[in-house]
Amino acid sequence: MKAGIEAISFYTSHYFFDLKNLAEERQTPVDKFYHGIGQEKMAAPPPDEDVVTLAANAAYQVIQKVDAEKIDTVIFATESGIDQSKSAGIYVHSMLGLSRNCRVLEVKQACYSAAAGIQLALPYLLLHPDRKVLLVAADIARYGLGSAGEPTQGAGAVAMVLSSQPKIIAFDQETGIYTEDVMDFWRPNYREEAFVDGKFSIKMYLKSLYEAWQQYTDRSGSRFDDFYRFCYHLPFSRMGEKAHFHLAKHIGREDFSEEYLLGQINETLQYIKIIGNTYAASMYIGLMALLENSAQDLAGKKIGFFSYGSGCVGEFFSGQVLPGYQQYLLAEQHRAFLQNRTELNYEEYKKFYLYSIPQDGGEYLTPRNKTGLFRFAGLKEHKRIYQKLESDSAR
Ligand code: COA
Repeated sequence: MKAGIEAISFYTSHYFFDLKNLAEERQTPVDKFYHGIGQEKMAAPPPDEDVVTLAANAAYQVIQKVDAEKIDTVIFATESGIDQSKSAGIYVHSMLGLSRNCRVLEVKQACYSAAAGIQLALPYLLLHPDRKVLLVAADIARYGLGSAGEPTQGAGAVAMVLSSQPKIIAFDQETGIYTEDVMDFWRPNYREEAFVDGKFSIKMYLKSLYEAWQQYTDRSGSRFDDFYRFCYHLPFSRMGEKAHFHLAKHIGREDFSEEYLLGQINETLQYIKIIGNTYAASMYIGLMALLENSAQDLAGKKIGFFSYGSGCVGEFFSGQVLPGYQQYLLAEQHRAFLQNRTELNYEEYKKFYLYSIPQDGGEYLTPRNKTGLFRFAGLKEHKRIYQKLESDSAR
């Protein structure tokens, strides 16, 4: 028996900002953004979206596809938490009306935490084949106006139901893992934006990839040639290329052409290029881009996953695409959503970015923007209030 993904979906802001306008504003050649880092657009969340609404809007779609009564665990992976104590997952659990006989928790380790969620869920599901785990990963990537990281910003969530009746991906048991105490990216509790040593974080990402790969291959006996496609953590789309070229070089496969290697990752980059970094959610949005846009039938193919979270933890793991997976995807819905987003100009982007909610405990309503079914409606007595709308993207 294998456990894996039974249903999966993602959600992002209804608003985006094109990096050609950022390039103009920052007096930077647009090619640096479009090609140098491989990013074209960034999702920009309005004041009435936060990680809870991003996650709930993604999760609402997946729970329609499964027997949701069987979900007895909700794991919320994020590094943009909205409370130091209460798990963001409790709000999502409540908004979705899941069973009260459920454990709910939030997990954090920069962009890595959703991979930890998968690895913790799999043995649990094999021990309890009648149960399901809802794993959500949601983040808002903020680096600061004018910073080097600014063009890589983004926002989004992924939701997946993991079970012992997977329909999309069945995960393998062996993984390779690497941890080292480094300061490449961190956000002290008193800061809205992270501190980041971008070049160092790339170096640590690549080092962790190689180390995790070594342990994975030692344990599993799998080799590079066994894989059809690779999904990497994607803080920006060129990072996927850097990672894959690095891996091929380090295992001595310099005989592979650049074109061949790009072919093993290109489809995974499509959505991230126009959404931006979504931290904990990004690798799985890459997986969905692959599954939903691949011209080939991927059934039976082996996929490699490398998740990296600054600080740092990296894990390499693998899985097989299951026959008939296409019928369980939400491909049309996702493509239409991305095509129908609203473009912001620079002033509008800046306004969303600079928006901050009052911290005085008074009653406060967030301005209404385009959102999914769930929106962050405001605050009262320091308590967050969420609203369920009549229909998706209502104004
Ligand atoms: N046309 C095309 N490419 C251009 C260009 C132009 N006019 N100008 C620069 N570039 C290329 C550079 O050559 C470089 O490519 P390379 O990586 O292949 O060398 C790339 O654009 C980035 O430019 P660079 O000046 O090296 O970096 P930067 O100071 O803009 O910072 C990051 C890039 C990724 C470090 C920065 O965005 C960042 O800190 N991001 C957040 C942290 C992060 O995502 N870390 C990743 C691991 S988790």
